[in-house]
Amino acid sequence: MPILSLANIGLTIQGHHILNGVSFDVEEGEVVGLIGPNGSGKTTLFNVLSGFLKPTEGSVTFREDDITHLIPSKRAQLGVGRVFQHFGIFREMTLEDNVRVALEAMPKELRNDMGTMEETVRATLEMATLLSHAKQKAGSLSGGQMRLLEIARTLKSGKELFLLDEPTAGVSPKMTHQVADIIGALKKEKKTVLIIEHDLPFIAQICDRVVVLDVGQVVLSGKPDEVKKSKELQEVYFGADPTT
Ligand SMILES: Nc1ncnc2c1ncn2[C@@H]1O[C@H](COP(=O)(O)OP(=O)(O)O)[C@@H](O)[C@H]1O
Ligand SMILES: [Mg+2]
Repeated sequence: MPILSLANIGLTIQGHHILNGVSFDVEEGEVVGLIGPNGSGKTTLFNVLSGFLKPTEGSVTFREDDITHLIPSKRAQLGVGRVFQHFGIFREMTLEDNVRVALEAMPKELRNDMGTMEETVRATLEMATLLSHAKQKAGSLSGGQMRLLEIARTLKSGKELFLLDEPTAGVSPKMTHQVADIIGALKKEKKTVLIIEHDLPFIAQICDRVVVLDVGQVVLSGKPDEVKKSKELQEVYFGADPTT
C-alpha cells in the first residue's frame, strides 16, 4: 500500500486550470523527484499536499487517511513534513536552542520514540554538519547553512513523508552534496521523500523515480535514466537540454 496517493487532483483558480487530473502514488521509503518547467504547478501541488490549498477536484490519501480536507497542522501531526525556506529559524537563538524549540513543539508520542532531547539535538546538528557551531547564534550562519539547519530540523521531527521544494536553490555545490547526503540518510531510515528540483543530475543521483509535470498535468513518470533519455522530456523543456 502506498504511503501517499494522489487521485485525479485538479485545481482551478478563476477559470485557470493550474492542476489537472494529477494522479500518482508514492511508496513508503521511495525518493521521488518532481520536475517540470517554471509555472508547471509543482509548488502548487505541494501546497495541495500540505493543506495550504484545497483542490477543486480529486483526493489525497496518506496511509489509510483521506487528508484532502485536513488543515496543515493536522497533516503535520499525521507525519507530513514540509521544509520551508528559512522558516522559523530564530536568528537571536543559538543553533542548539533552535533545534530544541522545534523538538519541544512535537507531539509527545513522536518524541518518545526518539531518545533523549540532547541526543536528538546533537544528531540533528550533526546531520546538518553544524555541530561545531552549536553554541553560535543562528543569525551568524550563511544562507546555505541556515537552509541545512532548517532541512535537518524538519527531517529529525519524527515525520514520515517529506516535501522538499528546491532545497538546493542558491546553495553552493558543496552544500548540494550535503543535501544529497541528508536525503540518502533519510532513505536508510525508510522515510519517504518527494522533492522538487531543477538540477537534473542531482535528481538522477538521489531519486528512485521521477514524475514530470507540465501545465498542471503529469506527462511522464519513470526511473531517472529512462526519463532523462525520453523525447517527452525534451519536448516539455521546448527542445532545450534540461541537463544543462
Ligand atoms: N494562488 C494563486 N492564484 C493564481 N494563480 C496561481 C496561484 N498559485 C500559483 N498560481 C499559478 O499557477 C501556476 C503554477 O505555479 P507554481 O505551482 O508556482 O509552479 P512551479 O512551482 O512549477 O514553478 C503558475 O502559472 C502560477 O502563476
Ligand atoms: Mg515552484
